[in-house]
Amino acid sequence: MDFAYNDEQKEIIKVVRDLVEKEIVPYASEMDETGKLHEGLLEKLAAQGLLGVAIPEEFGGAGLDAITIAAIYEELGKGCAGVATTVAANALASYPVIIAGNDDQKKRYFDIINEDNLAAFALTEPGTGSDAGSVSTRAMKTEDGKGYILNGTKCFITNGGVASVYTVFAITDKTKGVKGISAFIVERDRPGVSVGKEEDKMGIRLSNTTEVIFQDVHIPADHLIGEEGKGFIYAMQTLDLARPMVASLAVGIAQRAIDESVKYAKQRVTFGKPIIKHEVIAFKLADMDMKTEVARAAIINFLNTYYAVPKRNYTREAAIAKCFAGDMAVQVALEAVQILGGFGYSREYPVEKLVRDAKIMQIYEGTNEVQRMVIAGFVANK
Ligand code: CAA
Repeated sequence: MDFAYNDEQKEIIKVVRDLVEKEIVPYASEMDETGKLHEGLLEKLAAQGLLGVAIPEEFGGAGLDAITIAAIYEELGKGCAGVATTVAANALASYPVIIAGNDDQKKRYFDIINEDNLAAFALTEPGTGSDAGSVSTRAMKTEDGKGYILNGTKCFITNGGVASVYTVFAITDKTKGVKGISAFIVERDRPGVSVGKEEDKMGIRLSNTTEVIFQDVHIPADHLIGEEGKGFIYAMQTLDLARPMVASLAVGIAQRAIDESVKYAKQRVTFGKPIIKHEVIAFKLADMDMKTEVARAAIINFLNTYYAVPKRNYTREAAIAKCFAGDMAVQVALEAVQILGGFGYSREYPVEKLVRDAKIMQIYEGTNEVQRMVIAGFVANK
């Protein structure tokens, strides 16, 4: 597969890079402090189609290919992983509808997002997490069969408190284990939907992370996505598409760590020369570059598998990219702090934020331990 970007892809990447430089980087520290998106930024992200990168064009989205999406997330990751996470959560929430929704559902769901709104993927619960199949939120069919009543609490939901629509995973038949989980579209303004505790996080601080509570929420039957009992499969298929985006975002963080380190190392002089001329620093930079490039290669490996003809399963490649890039971003960002020394540890410089932001790359969208479980499953069955 040829990964040379075509003119259209180059133009999209340039537009995103400009947006990141002008509208995100100057406000990243402020947004980290306040925990809120800079005023007007959401509209600017929406205007460039970034809230609907994965939504097909026929439903008003940008309908971008996976190669361009990967490049966009790397650019956003360089600017601020919190902004990137806010935007990526829209794609995450959209995928179950793209995968299994009917045209009417796609129109209704994506019309909401197309009006500059955020969405959220509501899978995790206080008692689940890595064991995603142990969901306890219930969706009981109403006696007339025309809908469901939803009860339960989701937690650690990205965009939970700011989303206008949720993709919710709930048990419809508790005798069937993961095959009793179904997926639903739930609008924020349905009676009984409320937002609970907001997390005060180590990193990606501007990204809104909350509990979402469903108390006797009535959902019409036509809000069921795809088939009853297939919700877990749709969630897994969604994560196969979304985990490589986390990898791209992690690569963006690492690249920013390298760029900041090089900038500093060129101007900081010790023992009569810029520290970049000291082998101990140059070798650190070489390692940082090497690891970042290998993570990019893991994403390309995913893309190659994703676009393979005939179609191949890409679960393993998605897990490898996410896991390797997430671990790598933490190592590279920490090295950047070391290169900048005291300045790296200071909030005045951007690199300490990169470490805090990078850490979540090993945790969300399936911990790196879960990714290793997935990869190990493929190794064992070779
Ligand atoms: N694609 C299609 N089907 C899949 C699949 C995939 N990738 N993975 C599993 N399945 C199917 C299996 O084939 C199986 O079906 P059959 O019985 O018919 O074969 C069924 O699903 C159950 O599979 P497992 O037995 O493997 O399931 P499990 O209960 O052992 O769990 C797991 C597997 C990989 C650990 C899964 O629970 C998991 O991914 N956990 C992590 C959850 C996660 O990533 N959460 C992130 C939340 S979103 C988030 O973080 C967003 C954010 O805030 C930004």
